[in-house]
Amino acid sequence: MTHAISAKDSLLDPKDALLEPIHHSTYLIDGQLKTWKGEVAQVYSPILTAVDGVEEPVHLGSAPDLKREQGLEALTAAKKAYDHGRGAWPTASASERIAAMEKFIDCMVEQRELVVKLLMWEICKRKKDAVKEFTRTVDYLRDTVSEYKELHREGSHIHNVDGTLAQIRRGPLGVVLCLGPFNYPLNETFCVLLPAILMGNTAVFKPAKYGVLLITPLLEAFRTCFPPGVINVVFGRGRELASPIMESGDVDVLALIGNSKSSNALIGQHPKPNRVRQVLGLEAKNPAIILADADLDLAVKQCVSGAWSYNGQRCTALKVIYVHKHVRAEFLEKFAEATDRLRAGLPFADADITPLPERGKVEAMQAYVNEAVEKGAKVINAKGGETAGSIFFPAILFPVSRDTSIFKEEQFGPVCPVIEFEDLEEVMADIAASDYGQQASVFSQNPESMGTVIDQLVNQVCRVNLNSSCQRGPDALPFTGRKDSAVATLSVRAALRSFSIRTLVACSDSQKDTLEAVVAGRHSTFSSMDYLL
Ligand code: G3H
Repeated sequence: MTHAISAKDSLLDPKDALLEPIHHSTYLIDGQLKTWKGEVAQVYSPILTAVDGVEEPVHLGSAPDLKREQGLEALTAAKKAYDHGRGAWPTASASERIAAMEKFIDCMVEQRELVVKLLMWEICKRKKDAVKEFTRTVDYLRDTVSEYKELHREGSHIHNVDGTLAQIRRGPLGVVLCLGPFNYPLNETFCVLLPAILMGNTAVFKPAKYGVLLITPLLEAFRTCFPPGVINVVFGRGRELASPIMESGDVDVLALIGNSKSSNALIGQHPKPNRVRQVLGLEAKNPAIILADADLDLAVKQCVSGAWSYNGQRCTALKVIYVHKHVRAEFLEKFAEATDRLRAGLPFADADITPLPERGKVEAMQAYVNEAVEKGAKVINAKGGETAGSIFFPAILFPVSRDTSIFKEEQFGPVCPVIEFEDLEEVMADIAASDYGQQASVFSQNPESMGTVIDQLVNQVCRVNLNSSCQRGPDALPFTGRKDSAVATLSVRAALRSFSIRTLVACSDSQKDTLEAVVAGRHSTFSSMDYLL
């Protein structure tokens, strides 16, 4: 077997000298950056370096390992700032909230270089994708401000419904517990946290297990741009921090991008789970369906980016590929070749395949391959499954039995099962039986077959991609899923709706003068006709 990767591919070249280790010791509660003197969690990169001939992960620094008490203190601060909806932030005018948000975006942009560098070091996102994650997040936040203005303008209108005058706006829900994922530690977290804040909620935010240090350059911006208690940031383990916060019963919204096991456990800890609004982006098993009349070169190109970009660690990644019997052999040959042309290495030089951040992930990928092989599969591409340090070269498995873990579970990594079909019914039966329902990709050049598949899929998943891989963007489009894949919808506009509830002021026609006097006298921020430009 020719080796795609060698040990040196996952080793640090001294010329990529790191910033000094970051020993971060503060956390943000009630507008104060508090210094932690207790236990800390060491932060290591997935990248290895040779120390005295022994390969070791590069030490990046440390972060506070806060305890239950600090988590609950953060919750108290968020509750106080919300004050049952009567706090300064939930009752602030739209322009005050916008000003805070715009100031935050400006401060965030100043930290771009360091955050991008840490995205590469901590989670091995390749350089161009790390830059994209940062830029996309800033654009998302700017668009969020524009959408918020639009929502506010809509809410300045007075409706007259059968003699009842009503002003309808979207109001905040309360205290949000925000938990982000390691694969998009900046983008996916900020795209829920900041819309929630803009709508007038307050929050406790705990960064993901990996990608912790990259949040630390932004703490000062959170502190200076938002009033005390509006955003509280704590570092540590979910079990220690998030569980007691949920058990308190004081969380109104759980915003979690992760998996249903964690969200179910957390919701189960709340004494009144029915009261918790859930905004969840969860696991998926997005299928690619390649029909007999597909343009195979296009399908291969899309499957390579769809299955392997960021090593398959995207919720939208293609995680199972169905290919029609008539084109299976040609597809597999081309897909294997294209996959083996990918370059494995470190993120700094934009390698396609980079070290995996999660401890034990290489072994987990090997276990998927081994089980499938024991049950009759082969690794189709020559370089599939090669390892070097924490790099695992993408492995294409075929034929894959339906009783394997790689068929049933979300692998969230660089292994992809391929299944041959003759009758589309076989594919549809699998999709119907699946626990997941985020997106699907269909490859065909025939409009009639395409139309048939679209109609069979649209009520099973929430986005059908035609001759293209699955993805979340553009961010103005609704992003959601069925079954265990999501709760609530995200997009620039939908996130603002997900973190708010319609609330209205109403009166009969005979009370028109009263309402007019409230508005004309500028006695209420809610009942105002101010038109934000
Ligand atoms: O991990 C899930 C992300 O929301 C996927 O976003 O399709 O832009 O990579 P993406």
